Amino acid sequence: MANDLAVKRIGVLTSGGDAPGMNAAIRAVVKTAACLRIECIGIRHGYTGLLNGHFLPMDEKSVKGIIGRGGTMLYTARSEEFATDEGVERAADVCRRNNIEGLVVIGGDGSFRGARNLHSKGVKVIGIPCTIDNDIACTTYSVGYDTACNTVVEAVDKLNDTMQSHERCSVVEVMGRHAGHLALNVGIATGATVIMIPERNYDFENDVIERIRRARLSGRTNFNVIVAEGIDMPVHEISSRIREATGIETRHTQLGHVQRGGGPQVRDRVVASGMGYMAVRLLAEGESGRIVAMNGDILVHLDIDEALDMTKDLNNEAYNMFKALAFLDKEAFCGAGD
Ligand code: F6P
Repeated sequence: MANDLAVKRIGVLTSGGDAPGMNAAIRAVVKTAACLRIECIGIRHGYTGLLNGHFLPMDEKSVKGIIGRGGTMLYTARSEEFATDEGVERAADVCRRNNIEGLVVIGGDGSFRGARNLHSKGVKVIGIPCTIDNDIACTTYSVGYDTACNTVVEAVDKLNDTMQSHERCSVVEVMGRHAGHLALNVGIATGATVIMIPERNYDFENDVIERIRRARLSGRTNFNVIVAEGIDMPVHEISSRIREATGIETRHTQLGHVQRGGGPQVRDRVVASGMGYMAVRLLAEGESGRIVAMNGDILVHLDIDEALDMTKDLNNEAYNMFKALAFLDKEAFCGAGD
């Protein structure tokens, strides 16, 4: 392949909310480029950095020892200017003037919409899905998700220790923006009493209070409620309504940005490495306007327009399994109800 590379100089940037594993993806991009003798330019501060020439020539020494580090060594930022057509035009011109023939964009849906606009101006782009929300529809897995889930599970397990000592109810708000994938996964992993997610309507009395009452009747003395930040009730209100309705002492916790930090766990290191490797290979083969993705355990890539038109539903089977196990709810077992 070395003789007929479609690109000789590429750029890589991280955009949107950071996620554990972004550095592993950057590392794989830089090292794959080095392997193919393609020059690689790191672009700091996302699209803002592209527009303002925050460039950093990178080679394998630049990415030494970063595979296990959280955050992104290239920083990230959101760009108002890049949201305009003039901004995209100017960014494409910056690429042309700096001989950046291809761009690897590491981020989420919003970053890919920007990448698609660049692609329409003739800049070769490949996207790598990275977000702890795991809400990018074209991929079954987004880099950062597993590490964030483990961070939350570790925190909730600790909370459950003290809630058990005081026979209290814990209400924990987790991230996920408008999606409930993170909340559902960690709710299952921590044996939650109740999981509240934006993809499901709920009747507070039946779906929250009644379930806590039934758990208490079954002999439980502490309770664990996991709430996705995207639902329409603030966590402190959920907490006070539980206390008022059941008389159980209740404490609420908003985990916040700790969920975005920490060194990536194995899955994120391995998936990020595979995606970075594939992204550069695609550019070298002349591909553009593609998103690298996971289809189960298989690494694939698909057209960026197709990817951005897709929608992603909640894992209904997992939700019903949770209800069946949490409440020995036969109806949930048969998939009835929600
Ligand atoms: O998209 C990742 C995410 O962590 C969401 O889960 C969360 O709602 C959002 O970013 C927070 O954004 P910011 O870091 O700009 O406050």
